[in-house]
Amino acid sequence: MGPTSVKPVSDGLYYGDYLQLGKLLDAQKLESTKTGETVHDEMLFIVVHQAYELWFKQIIWEIDSILELFGKDVVDERDMRTAVSRLRRVSKIQELLITQVGVLESMTPLDFLDFRDLLFPASGFQSAQFRIVENKLGLRPEDRLLLGGAGYTARFNDDDAALVTSLEADPSLFAVVERWLERTPFLDHGDFRFWDAYKHAVHERINADRSVVENNPNLGDEEKRIQLGEFDQVLKQYEAIFDSEKHELERQAGRLRLSHRAFQAALFITLYRDEPALQEAFRLIELLMDIDEGFTAWRYRHAQMALRMIGRRVGTGGSAGAKYLEKSAERSRVFGDLFSLTTFLVPRADRPTLPAGILDSMRFRFEE
Ligand code: HEM
Repeated sequence: MGPTSVKPVSDGLYYGDYLQLGKLLDAQKLESTKTGETVHDEMLFIVVHQAYELWFKQIIWEIDSILELFGKDVVDERDMRTAVSRLRRVSKIQELLITQVGVLESMTPLDFLDFRDLLFPASGFQSAQFRIVENKLGLRPEDRLLLGGAGYTARFNDDDAALVTSLEADPSLFAVVERWLERTPFLDHGDFRFWDAYKHAVHERINADRSVVENNPNLGDEEKRIQLGEFDQVLKQYEAIFDSEKHELERQAGRLRLSHRAFQAALFITLYRDEPALQEAFRLIELLMDIDEGFTAWRYRHAQMALRMIGRRVGTGGSAGAKYLEKSAERSRVFGDLFSLTTFLVPRADRPTLPAGILDSMRFRFEE
């Protein structure tokens, strides 16, 4: 039976009770009012922050449900659609979060100064839900910036610090997606090895390009030397991912994060995304990129707002202010590998031809 069969538990539900508006709308206590002189714009400051926290709550709700679906040993194809539509929802919420910065910017820096001193040492840096989102997505402790030599939980109260830290050990979206990618079928089929075929295709392309340069009568020796040297550089980049040991070195150096198998699978899905069995998987990869990009865009937008509001002053939480925020935006990417993949794409025409057996198993058909 569908949800329409759910029976109401209370008669004559009232809008304000259902939404607990009594609590929600009584939760805006202006620090300026406590001093006896209400500053008009402090209401906006509180409401905007509270709206953010409500949306963070919704994002956590969506990510938790995706973690549950992807935490299973096998992800049911039907659950893929659910996961994709929930990730799309997160991405839509992010659009709102970025636009919402503009609402707060309708407060001028001079108006902000009327109550800013009352906020010390509180700061968005202490948003536990924001850190929970980061941890659930898969931002690692080593990816984080220190603030005055202290870790990101140092400014939390004990409860928030314990909650946020406990999540570091839980499987993150990054971890469950990596495992799901590693299980991708089709990479090996009979005698066919996708990775060998891909390496061969790349070598063929580079050799073809090299011989065009080598045989070009219009190029002098020096020009040829420079252009061929560029191909060597390109090949070097490829070699770093061709070989599992070199790939591991890239991981250790922090330039890549996905396991070698997961990286291969993500490349496979991206190259053959038109095949019916890969379409939903590709959508998921695209949405993870949208979300990664969305948080980075929010961080830069927030850093710009902070610069406009406080210039080069230190933050209320004690950081170097806008400078700290810009650095944090640069560093806090979780799915950076999905962007690195693009470096290794080959044009459609150069893709290895997949054996009929694989193509067949990637198509849906109706059989009586
Ligand atoms: C007048 C408006 C705002 C200013 C001037 C501002 C400024 C800052 C500064 C300077 C920091 C660095 C930590 C510190 O020293 O305090 C920070 C961190 C942060 N703020 Fe804001 N902020 C503003 C509004 C907001 C809003 C509306 C949110 C939404 C929840 C927010 C969320 C955060 C978060 C999550 C961090 C931590 C970022 C990180 O560590 O990468 N801030 N903010």
